[in-house]
Amino acid sequence: MVKVAVLGAAGGIGQPLSLLLKGNTAVTELALYDVAPIVVGVAADLSHINTPAKVTGYKGDDELERALTGAHIVVIPAGIPRKPGMTRDDLFKINAGIVKTLATAAAKYCPKAFLAIISNPVNSTVPIAAEVFKAAGVHDPKRIFGVTTLDITRANTFVGELKKTDPTATSVPVIGGHSGVTIIPILSASGHTFTDAEREALTQRIQYGGDEVVKAKDGAGSATLSMAYAGARFVASLLDASVGKKTGVKECTYVQSTAVEGLEYFSTVVELGPDGASKIHPIPANLDAHEQKLLQAAIPELKANIQKGVDFVKAVS
Ligand code: NAI
Repeated sequence: MVKVAVLGAAGGIGQPLSLLLKGNTAVTELALYDVAPIVVGVAADLSHINTPAKVTGYKGDDELERALTGAHIVVIPAGIPRKPGMTRDDLFKINAGIVKTLATAAAKYCPKAFLAIISNPVNSTVPIAAEVFKAAGVHDPKRIFGVTTLDITRANTFVGELKKTDPTATSVPVIGGHSGVTIIPILSASGHTFTDAEREALTQRIQYGGDEVVKAKDGAGSATLSMAYAGARFVASLLDASVGKKTGVKECTYVQSTAVEGLEYFSTVVELGPDGASKIHPIPANLDAHEQKLLQAAIPELKANIQKGVDFVKAVS
């Protein structure tokens, strides 16, 4: 029996993500939670799809306990998205509180669940969830993940487009964090060669790919469908490694890490196993000069983002 809870399931990401998770036959129970009452209708709608998962909608604070109890994986896309001109950090004011509330409930009702955090700013919301779990005495760093998969999806797409290769067979690790300069694509590991101009342009597009969508949606939100795809892929990997007991399942994901001295959280390739992150890979040893520069630019920003999350929990508890 595998229960997956989606918190923020009525939203732009939550709905298509829930649809994709309903299609994952490893899931036997799908608990959809949101503060918006429409979530009950979303659950009713999805429940007519003939796959194994039993889908239930839960609305509002009173029903959060039931949504979370028994969950193996909790995916959190709750919170406000960006509008044109906003950075992910601008979302902190509202989303920090939402993630803190939901992490507090998860620590209480399903402390052993894997937490997959989509809500931005991921660089800060992961430390927030970890601090909440620490305060509750149930922290296991192997079980808390920041979902950065969309950066990898974008990198594979953009490199595939440029090199006219199959994007499903393209693999670009993206390390660091999940905003602007903290996103570090390791193009040197893609198996392709690039001119300096191509490398610059690709890096810029991968780091700011989200802005293309925010601009095109013109105030109506940020990436939702591609994020749902990426989130479903990440959850599928967690399921493959834990329930499916597959070996060699790897994803780049933002976790508690010792990859960079002085940064408590960082995304590198992480091997997943039955208990979560089983091995956190170091930063690739052979970064080129361009990637070294990107890493140096990311470190101070990430440090500040992490500290902001930690301070937030300390200040309000
Ligand atoms: P949305 O506004 O369409 O949906 C958010 C949902 O969260 C709404 O249904 C809302 O009712 C719900 N919500 C708000 N407070 C809640 C609470 N306390 N408990 C449960 N549900 C609550 O936003 P969208 O587009 O789905 O984006 C959600 C988040 O995902 C944003 O923070 C956005 O920045 C982030 N995001 C992350 C990406 C990543 O790569 N990690 C990519 C794209 C977006």
